[in-house]
Amino acid sequence: MSAAGSSPFHESAAAQVAGAVHYIDDLPELRGTLHAAPILSGHAHGKLLGVDCAAALAMPGVVDVVLAQDIPGDPMLAAFAGDEPVFALDTVQFVGQVVGLVLATTVMQARRAARKVQLQIEPLPAVLSVHDALRAQSFVLPPVQVRRGDADAALAAAQHTLRGRLEVGGQEHFYLEGQIAYALPQEQNQWVIYSSTQHPGEVQHWVSHALGIDNHAVRVECRRMGGGFGGKETQAGHLAVWAAVAAAKIRRPVKLRLDRDDDFMVTGKRHPFAYDYRAGFDDTGRLTALKLQMAVNCGFSADLSGPVADRAIFHTDNAYFLQDVDIVSYRCKTNTQSHTAFRGFGGPQGVVLIEALMGEIARRLALDPLDVRLRNLYSDEPIAGTALKRDTTHYQMKVEDNILLPLLSKLEQSSQYRRRVEAISAWNAGSPVLKRGIAITPVKFGISFTATLFNQAGALVHVYTDGSVQVNHGGTEMGQGLHTKIAQIVADELGVPFERVLCTASDTSKVPNASATAASAGTDLNGRAAQFAARNIRDNLAAFVAGLDGCGAGAVRFASGAVTSPTSTRAFDDVVKLAYANRIQLWSDGFYRTPKIHYDKATLSGRPFYYFAYGAACSEVLIDTLTGENKVLKVDILHDVGRSINPAIDLGQIEGGFVQGMGWLTTEQLVWNAQGKLTTHAPSTYKIPTAADVPEHFKIELWPEPNREDNVFGSKAVGEPPFMLGISVFEALRDAVAQARGADAAAQLEAPATPENVLRALQG
Ligand code: MTE
Ligand code: MOS
Repeated sequence: MSAAGSSPFHESAAAQVAGAVHYIDDLPELRGTLHAAPILSGHAHGKLLGVDCAAALAMPGVVDVVLAQDIPGDPMLAAFAGDEPVFALDTVQFVGQVVGLVLATTVMQARRAARKVQLQIEPLPAVLSVHDALRAQSFVLPPVQVRRGDADAALAAAQHTLRGRLEVGGQEHFYLEGQIAYALPQEQNQWVIYSSTQHPGEVQHWVSHALGIDNHAVRVECRRMGGGFGGKETQAGHLAVWAAVAAAKIRRPVKLRLDRDDDFMVTGKRHPFAYDYRAGFDDTGRLTALKLQMAVNCGFSADLSGPVADRAIFHTDNAYFLQDVDIVSYRCKTNTQSHTAFRGFGGPQGVVLIEALMGEIARRLALDPLDVRLRNLYSDEPIAGTALKRDTTHYQMKVEDNILLPLLSKLEQSSQYRRRVEAISAWNAGSPVLKRGIAITPVKFGISFTATLFNQAGALVHVYTDGSVQVNHGGTEMGQGLHTKIAQIVADELGVPFERVLCTASDTSKVPNASATAASAGTDLNGRAAQFAARNIRDNLAAFVAGLDGCGAGAVRFASGAVTSPTSTRAFDDVVKLAYANRIQLWSDGFYRTPKIHYDKATLSGRPFYYFAYGAACSEVLIDTLTGENKVLKVDILHDVGRSINPAIDLGQIEGGFVQGMGWLTTEQLVWNAQGKLTTHAPSTYKIPTAADVPEHFKIELWPEPNREDNVFGSKAVGEPPFMLGISVFEALRDAVAQARGADAAAQLEAPATPENVLRALQG
């Protein structure tokens, strides 16, 4: 039986549940290790006039304080926009910005002492909201505009128009393992860095830049993360640089593990968005014009805000053809944490807007929202008066693999949507306080890094003389099952059992220049590279066996731990031993670059994505119109992972993604106070969904068709797309609110739909 396509357990599942795996904080500490704690700015904006460390240095166990002047290399981080200091220099730019570190013998000593450091800060006016930033033209990057057709003319000609605003909040990653780095000085200014990072290669670059040494002198290792969700794509690098700078100063190993509150205060979140839009549509609910302004709250520096905001533009269509469209995206600079990658990478902030608009159009015209959605899908329908079809995105990419209509139709049937819409409205008529709502929303998510150069990957496969196989690739494991899937792929390529293949820790000295494990492309990229590496070894072995048996290499087969030719069957392990004795190479590298993709950064047009992943969810909710409390009752999902490499892992990703998306739009609320301090910085005040929030009825089906593009095993990426299925919950809540309001259905529900926001929408 082949390994890929079946569901062996996650490669470390047994060890995980036994508590036997090593996260970085579990590694035995080297003699002389010091612990670091960050010194945080208490002001949103101000001049940093002085740092008084005397009281901190007098605390028990304290060894030293590390500040910007201790950085041996560049005091600016090697982040791509170059706008972020390693430690605050002469200004502080948000509450929680790291000014330096206190080093002590124990972590608690360091944390206590860090609070005793006195910062002399002369406050400056702070920009705390995206609206203030827009007024002040305070941007981290210049605005970007994408246009097709003539949106103004189309608005003027539209049968109906509507204008609206929407605000959608950010989201804390809440990885269970917080941010951590452990920096170990080696001989001759060489370094080993253990970092909980999605991007060891970038950590390597950042550390060497800050230390003023070559990349080759820094080796970064990550065996696994206890979750990343985008929060460890760039921002793990800060901790690694901080720990390394401290270790360079004190010449001892330094470990930096943020406690949860500090992690909230220091690191960036999902970007909050504010939208202002005008839409034109006809009597049938077909959208004919869209003018949209997106104000993206980026925080104090660019980080990944450019590509995140771009992806929001790319996903403003979601599943729908936008004919005359004009989108302007402002990358607003505010005095808050620097917001960063988070599952969906801006995509959700595009999709949520267009789905809200679909719901509004339906309610305005008293049509069923699903009908309005179906009416607007990408299709082969010609555009009247032109030779064009409704199949090309506003960034000029033709949607070639469109399965939206059959997928939505299948879910409409299997969820019994039409019958339930009627049942819910009858139920609501007899229920004055509790109201139900329902919605089906689709997802079409573009797969590939929009920065084309990142779509490359490498891998190393080693076959040892006992026939066991070790794989190392450029990706990182964060719970998503990447190592498991790649081991399955390699096992199949060599025809050996899954258990014979071991994936080792991500390591910049094994596979160099690897991209972040992000954009859901971990398996697509690294899986293919590993497959190619394994294929090279198989080819070597096949040629060897063909020589022994006097047959063509193409006639040699690898399956079930055996190698067969027309005249022989040998155990794989025996062939390996024999090949080794005959000096045949038993290891290889592999390299993959995604074909077909290209795009013009200036106009944001081309083919940024190799293919799309699709899905749809039907959610039913209940609200209490007296308290605003709400609950998800039933969820049915139909999702496209192509030909699944590991159905159990894919289902887990769909479940987890959906619940995380639902959390973003319901219970997870970030609150910054009037001084710019994040007041929701612990699980006591910031509510992620729990097991009890998972709907009792939660049915997930996989779409039964392989990827139409040539992707590894016929699979599709799964990490992020299901996150956007959670938007069906938000739309169902808006439906419930509208049903409660009756004739006055134009409800404005802000996200997240906390009880307070639901009450506001009911009364507003
Ligand atoms: N699943 C788990 N369990 N933990 C995570 O941190 N991150 C998500 C997703 N699924 C994440 C996860 C994000 S943001 C991405 S981009 C992908 O996994 C990255 O991994 P992949 O490319 O291998 O799918
Ligand atoms: Mo995922 S947001 O691309 O790390």
